[in-house]
Amino acid sequence: MSLGVVDFLDERLDVRRISREFAEHKVPDHVNWLYCFGGITFLCFLIQAATGVLLAFYYRPGSDTAYTSVLHIMDDMPYGVVIRSLHAWTANIMIIMVIVHMLRVFFHGAYRPPRELNWVTGVLLFFMTVTFGFSGYLLPMNQLSYWATKVGTEIAGAMPFVGGYLQDFLLAGSKIGDATLTRFYTIHVIILPIVLSMFLAAHFYMIRKQGIADPL
Ligand code: HEM
Repeated sequence: MSLGVVDFLDERLDVRRISREFAEHKVPDHVNWLYCFGGITFLCFLIQAATGVLLAFYYRPGSDTAYTSVLHIMDDMPYGVVIRSLHAWTANIMIIMVIVHMLRVFFHGAYRPPRELNWVTGVLLFFMTVTFGFSGYLLPMNQLSYWATKVGTEIAGAMPFVGGYLQDFLLAGSKIGDATLTRFYTIHVIILPIVLSMFLAAHFYMIRKQGIADPL
């Protein structure tokens, strides 16, 4: 039965050849455990996407509703504490992993030609990962969220030339409120997942095309 499904898909989509190409792709001999951090970062992203979707079923953005909806998730929903904790812990782990991955690439000199574009894509991925963390921090709308966002948006506001615009854009008003939360939520659950996925696809395409860099 299942073989029939595979045959059906293979005739139409050539799935056997595609899966063979993935499974039989040779990894260079010099690749060791130091090369696993990019993959771990990707795994973190997948966990964030899965747990984030589950949280979004019950989270209600709004300065009156956000905090109580998070309490509701924790107190009343089955495995709510587990799912929220996974999301919060994995967010921190993802940031640590992306930094370790970036250091691995840097110290192996893997940014050298022809991989400069992949390094630049990586830098953008790094900023997006940090922005994911920052935008998510406000969502529970507790004291920590409020003050962290206040400090963060003031730091953004101190940037030369663009600071004022950036702070206005982030706050969506003169102070943190409903409009700020809506903006952060949109950035966190719509804009960043789409843009980061697009850049990840480019990152992986380039790795596949150029292969893993030779040691220095
Ligand atoms: C969401 C973040 C990221 C994910 C999921 C990711 C994933 C990966 C994976 C799976 C690999 C192949 C295995 C490995 O070398 O670890 C890789 C390679 C690479 N990454 Fe990333 N990466 C991310 C961010 C970054 C950042 C921040 C940089 C640098 C600023 C970067 C630059 C590179 C480069 C240049 C390579 C090729 C390395 C080589 O050929 O040896 N990546 N990435």
